[in-house]
Amino acid sequence: MRFESGSKTEIKTLTYFVALEILKLLNILVLHGPNLNLLGQREPGVYGLATLNDINKLLEQEALALQVKVSIQQSNHEGVLVDAIHSMLGQHQGLLINAGAYTHTSVAIRDAIAAINLPAVEVHLSNIYRREDFRHHSFIAPVAIGQISGFGSESYRLGLQAVVSHLKNH
Ligand code: DQA
Repeated sequence: MRFESGSKTEIKTLTYFVALEILKLLNILVLHGPNLNLLGQREPGVYGLATLNDINKLLEQEALALQVKVSIQQSNHEGVLVDAIHSMLGQHQGLLINAGAYTHTSVAIRDAIAAINLPAVEVHLSNIYRREDFRHHSFIAPVAIGQISGFGSESYRLGLQAVVSHLKNH
């Protein structure tokens, strides 16, 4: 196809191909649960010094490298997290979730993930199995394709790689 440079037809054609590329990109929802907004100042000995903003930037960078799109949301409210999971249908292909303390308590978040039936990866900054007994049980693990726990901010990068690799290979 040859068009005069800058012609309306050329611009329309380019817009069409760019739109196609955008439509093709996998879109991953990243959900951060309660108290993760305080990262950086919250128990730095356990969770490190990276802020939520630092982690989100790391995820945006990794998304660029993987050529996927990420939509990122944090909430301290269980119902808001459930609504966000429901809203994935038709918009997102995979979920990366650190549900914080709701990991250990929330049947509602577990059921929402089961209901949408899209691949989810559970991540934790800390190694939940080296901590208090009540953190050893996850309601989310049985409905996730896998879990990454204990690598600080890197858990998120690894988690994004895992969900994208799963989507590209299944
Ligand atoms: C956490 C571990 C949870 O037990 C805790 O309640 C959190 C953070 C983590 O990322 O290590 O809020 O999910």
